[in-house]
Amino acid sequence: MDRSRRAFLEFLAASPALAAAPASLAQGLPNLYAPERITRAADAVNVFDFHEVAKEVLWPAHYAYIAMGTDDGATLRANREAFREIKLRVRRLVDTSTVDTSFELFGRRYPLPVMLAPCGSHKGFHPQGESAVKRAAESRQVEMILSSVSSTSIEDVNAIGGTPAWFQLYTSRDFDVNVARAKRAEESESPVLVLTVDLPDSNREAVARFRRSSNPECQACHGPGPASLPPKPMIGAETLSLAHLDWDFVDRLRDAISMKLVIKGIVTSEDAELSIRHGADGIIVSNHGGRSEDSGRGTIECLPEVVDTIDGRIPVICDSGFRRGTDIFKALAIGADAIAIGRPYLWGLAAFGQEGVEAVIDLLGRELEIVMRQAGVTSLEQIDRSYLA
Ligand code: FNR
Repeated sequence: MDRSRRAFLEFLAASPALAAAPASLAQGLPNLYAPERITRAADAVNVFDFHEVAKEVLWPAHYAYIAMGTDDGATLRANREAFREIKLRVRRLVDTSTVDTSFELFGRRYPLPVMLAPCGSHKGFHPQGESAVKRAAESRQVEMILSSVSSTSIEDVNAIGGTPAWFQLYTSRDFDVNVARAKRAEESESPVLVLTVDLPDSNREAVARFRRSSNPECQACHGPGPASLPPKPMIGAETLSLAHLDWDFVDRLRDAISMKLVIKGIVTSEDAELSIRHGADGIIVSNHGGRSEDSGRGTIECLPEVVDTIDGRIPVICDSGFRRGTDIFKALAIGADAIAIGRPYLWGLAAFGQEGVEAVIDLLGRELEIVMRQAGVTSLEQIDRSYLA
């Protein structure tokens, strides 16, 4: 090596610029698989980016209300882990330049098989609450299911215009109260009543813990007392109870209303069959996002036995743990007609209001299109179990 070249290399080796370069380059690289703290809905690359924002902007107790499962959170984790166990079996060399993600349910055509599951108290996550979610659902033409414990009434939500939202029923012991609640939804033109049956009881430790760390402003809204909640426009003074629900109740409710009846919280073939026998027009395979029983299976594990039993007689919707287009694809391949999301759109709402909810729907739609192209399918009808390994 000649002297000038050696001197040059020695100079480079000693240079702080070169020594610092690899480290600074590495530091400059984001962790490609970690969610980011975004400041605009448009910057989100997946739904988890909204989770990061929600964690920061919500009161601890409100965040805990979204995040929690029951007991040790085993069912909550199973919902996600079970998706990872299922591998895709994709086909090549299919022209997928045009992909159609639309589907039909109860006579309405939707652009995407994604629904917004009923979740309580949206105003605890954003001042515009359910109104922002309804506007997002309208702009993306997806279905919103309003919760019984919403912070906005069904009348106000449906007054926003467009297609009236579905209404989810939590029950009271007084049957007439339940009918009156359902009738309010019916009179406000909600076409579908969703009866949630998976919550006779539940152990929600996270809420108890985080309630203590809530600040005075939050407590002022809740009022005094550990169990106090702000007033709910769809619930009067009566207490809610699901422990008394049985199939006789379903029969009586079926007879009392003329809306379509969808039963939410079914996870077994036996109950799927009973749902049909007792007049359900559809079912939602759900474990309440891991918030009902602990030590349960992920819903994607429950789906095959339910779908096989239903055998196309009524629509099957599946929720709990859906975060990716591939998750949606797997449920459709097993035989679900559509899926529903809870937490992802609440993260979007908490982070950026209506825009955040819209971005969550858009991201899932985009990811579903991508996996359909990868798998070599151009419409939802083509997705079947042959695409699962
Ligand atoms: C819920 N869920 C729910 N379900 C229901 O029938 N009525 C309700 O009022 C509520 N409220 C509610 C609040 C919050 C904060 C969460 C996270 C969930 C359950 C919901 O409809 C749905 O089943 C799950 O959220 C789906 O799971 P992921 O998508 O959250 O994992």
